Amino acid sequence: MKGIILAGGTGTRLHPATLAVSKQLLPVNDKPMIYYPLSVLMLAGVRDVLIISTAFDLPHFRRLLGDGGHIGLRIDYAEQNAPNGIAEAFTIGADHIGDDSVALILGDNIYHGHSFSDVLDENARDVRGCVLFGYSVRDPERYGIAEVDPFGRILSIEEKPAHPKSDKAVTGLYFYDNDVIEIARNLRPSARGELEITDVNRIYLERGQARLVDLGRGFAWLDTGTPQSLLAAGHYVHTLEERQGVRIACLEEIALRMGFIDADACYRLGELISNSEYGRYVMSVAASEQTFATALERDFERDEVALT
Ligand code: DAU
Repeated sequence: MKGIILAGGTGTRLHPATLAVSKQLLPVNDKPMIYYPLSVLMLAGVRDVLIISTAFDLPHFRRLLGDGGHIGLRIDYAEQNAPNGIAEAFTIGADHIGDDSVALILGDNIYHGHSFSDVLDENARDVRGCVLFGYSVRDPERYGIAEVDPFGRILSIEEKPAHPKSDKAVTGLYFYDNDVIEIARNLRPSARGELEITDVNRIYLERGQARLVDLGRGFAWLDTGTPQSLLAAGHYVHTLEERQGVRIACLEEIALRMGFIDADACYRLGELISNSEYGRYVMSVAASEQTFATALERDFERDEVALT
């Protein structure tokens, strides 16, 4: 499965903070916002990622993440010359997707919850049609909304309805089979002039090929669209990281855990930024993995000796 992060737009609700820097590069507690959606793709097992943004912002993303090789990824970049709609990601990214399925995530969406990697892993395998991720919200008129029956089957999907039929938001993470490219190519702009992701989802729904995975109430899907919600997201991450001593969306740690890089490479990445707490955390994660590996090796050698 290929991955796309859509990280364009103008971030006008965050002006002046986003006048000179992309919204998706603003910090959420201790790391740039784009680390969070990128970590979701990595946890889904995706290693080929396309980042789509504006011509102005792309060099900054490239400076931050390079070709992704250091964390065992392949990252490419593509330009969206105007915010023509989320579904444009599939026509811009058609070559990147090739014959594969694709996971699209919006660069400003933050997900966190127990067993999320299992949920991702289960649903990323052998995608047929589309998989959407639903989350109950207090203000459904702001989102794409899915009406579901008591068995969880989707009955309708509407974009920012004035009279929402449910409180179930369709969040900014979507898995599609390869048909999505053709579907996106044939879309017409909506009344507000955008190629709507909700129209793509509705086509899958009409084909009987749309599935909604409910993220449940113990889960966090956080908004970062306004100064208040951005600060709240930072507080959330800070609280968990301080309390548990672990880090959310630490790319180097995820790369290590997913087997994309080894403990030595991980340690060296931490060393490069060892002046920061984040860098020291990466080093400590790698060091404990090294100790564990050495202990395993020692046990193995001892068993070998015992056998001979
Ligand atoms: O966050 C989930 C919601 O995202 C969904 O529930 C909605 O169905 C979906 O339309 C979208 O709604 P938003 O109102 O949040 O979309 P927005 O226009 O704010 O775009 C979301 C992000 O994608 C934002 O960071 C900017 C980026 N973007 C957006 C458009 C339209 C682009 O990079 N290019 C674009 O053309």
